Amino acid sequence: MPNILTDKKIVLGVTGSIACYKAVDLASKLKQAGALVEVILTESAQKFLSPLSFNSITHQPVVTSLFDTNSEAGINHVALARRADIVVVAPATANTIAKIAHGQADDALGTTILATEAPIMVCPAMDGNMYESPATQANIKTLKDRDIHLAGPEVGHLASGQTGIGRLIEPQRIVSHIRFILGRDGDLAGKTIVASAGGTRESLDPVRDITNRSSGKMGYAIAEAALDRGASVVLVSTPTNLSPPVGSTVVLVKNAHDMHEAITIESKNADVLVMAAAVADWQPVRSSGQKIKKSDKETWAVELTQTPDIIASVSSEGLIKVGFAAETESILQNAETKMKSKNLDIVVANDVSSEQSGFGSDNNDVTIIDRLGRVEETGLLSKYDVAWQILDRALDFMKAI
Ligand code: C5P
Repeated sequence: MPNILTDKKIVLGVTGSIACYKAVDLASKLKQAGALVEVILTESAQKFLSPLSFNSITHQPVVTSLFDTNSEAGINHVALARRADIVVVAPATANTIAKIAHGQADDALGTTILATEAPIMVCPAMDGNMYESPATQANIKTLKDRDIHLAGPEVGHLASGQTGIGRLIEPQRIVSHIRFILGRDGDLAGKTIVASAGGTRESLDPVRDITNRSSGKMGYAIAEAALDRGASVVLVSTPTNLSPPVGSTVVLVKNAHDMHEAITIESKNADVLVMAAAVADWQPVRSSGQKIKKSDKETWAVELTQTPDIIASVSSEGLIKVGFAAETESILQNAETKMKSKNLDIVVANDVSSEQSGFGSDNNDVTIIDRLGRVEETGLLSKYDVAWQILDRALDFMKAI
């Protein structure tokens, strides 16, 4: 299925920082996601890398000079600038940032940046002192004032051997920034989606929790798809191993009680609530402040009490409520009962006992049911594609409000 990067024309400017080897990985990730990637290498980048490295990945000619006469390949910086959906400079050296700030057009990258009307994103990479120097900081401010999107740098190990600010952000994060920029005008622009993710942890004592095996992937996929379609996204999540998509506002919570509080607040101004989190139905009546000691007793009975039903308790006034029904049996009947008892607009039913889908998997196979009686089986899809279909259905309801 297509995604936000499919067929997008991305001009990738690579400049002469030692981090430019990461641009090969970036080009590869973009190409794999379906984008058409056209690379411009500055003269100093060519000292580190050969055009062939990029050409082999992108299957497109690589621009190495302003005075390229390879008309057969149709390389022309103005044409390149015009057809671009986005121009990304990664890594961007202090020198290139200075040149962009001052509108210099003495190489193919400079001219392309001046000539393009597409959004521009710059990912700095340099020594910490160079980054923090007043000149670079002033140039970066100039770029920001011109609505150029800055991504990074981050703090980490630098080529100088020191640790500090100046490290290029990871290619995966650069891709996430690109998606965020390209998605801004999507069909969910102006809408706010609250998505919950992960499994809650109900504590018995400072070292023991009752939890479940939810990975958080479905909720993160909802956030990613909603951002790709231009929505504002609040991700209410328990700690997971996943990296939140660029542009999402993350509210970290631990247990059902905290998630209830966060969802109640965040849903007030939202258009859609998607409760993809696996919320514990039960919590210990008492949580010990001290680690519970092993005793001579053979058994230990823990008394549990019900947690608040978050999605049922949130007001439906102006809010599309989407719940999940993670079941291991009688999936459709249970889902429909849940939709009525929790006053949901949409319920996403899935069989969590299946190995191919459900908890921990990158894929899901769900049935989307809504209160108008529509029932749709998605078949086995990536969680991102399932998220896209759930949002399609939510969008139908939003149009009807
Ligand atoms: O009742 P059950 O846990 O099967 O319902 C699942 C749906 O309800 C999911 O969308 C889940 O996120 C949500 N839920 C909730 N509050 C709870 C338990 C589940 O909002 N305490």
